[in-house]
Amino acid sequence: MAADVATTLASLYDMRSLRMYIRWKVRSDPAYAAVLARVRDYPQPLLDLGCGVGLLPFYLREHGVGVPMLGIDFDDRKIDVARHAAQRYRGIDFIRGDARGELPEGHNTVVLDILQYFSPADQQRILTQVAKAVAPDGIVVIRSGLRDASWRFRITRAVDAFGRAIRWMRAESLTYPTREEIIGAFDGFHVDVTPLWGGSPFNNYLFVFTRGAARRPE
Ligand SMILES: C[S@@+](CC[C@H](N)C(=O)[O-])C[C@H]1O[C@@H](n2cnc3c(N)ncnc32)[C@H](O)[C@@H]1O
Repeated sequence: MAADVATTLASLYDMRSLRMYIRWKVRSDPAYAAVLARVRDYPQPLLDLGCGVGLLPFYLREHGVGVPMLGIDFDDRKIDVARHAAQRYRGIDFIRGDARGELPEGHNTVVLDILQYFSPADQQRILTQVAKAVAPDGIVVIRSGLRDASWRFRITRAVDAFGRAIRWMRAESLTYPTREEIIGAFDGFHVDVTPLWGGSPFNNYLFVFTRGAARRPE
């Protein structure tokens, strides 16, 4: 099943190298299935903040998530690629925007792998905006590497430093948030944090925030 969806999603893109990357990413990264499991029963529209080329919305649609979806990314080229790939789908839109700006209200929100590219102050701004804009009784799902004392964090940081040294990754800054910094922005929400390591050595975690009355802790 996963292999079929990986092939379908790869076929949305024109560039051969991107198709190969998408196929590999869908098959190897546990984030997409983890997000699907968390958001699939929610009726509100979904916002993918820092959507890249739009893989998550397409993955969710291919798995039967029918709500309207909006992807926002800072990178014009990625938004163009995502829009082109979205021609097959209805109700999946992409716009260029800055995650640090105001967010559309009333969505469930997914934030995958973008926080480390921002300063701690901007991370807090983004997280606070996400908490403010999420739909009432909605859900926020965040995947991020975490800064802590683990060997996983040391490997994550070393691989990033290498990526920047060879200019594979052009991020101006790389500051991973701590668990507490992420959770602190979601006052009044119930939080569930789980490791999302898959087969990787990286220090990735999944944060799920809900604020429906039924989900609040006793
Ligand atoms: C590692 S990629 C993750 C892409 C996607 N979330 C995924 O998991 O496939 C990080 C993304 O953050 C986007 N990004 C960086 N700065 C941003 C900003 N200020 N506002 C919105 N997106 C931004 C980049 O363009 C890039 O697409």
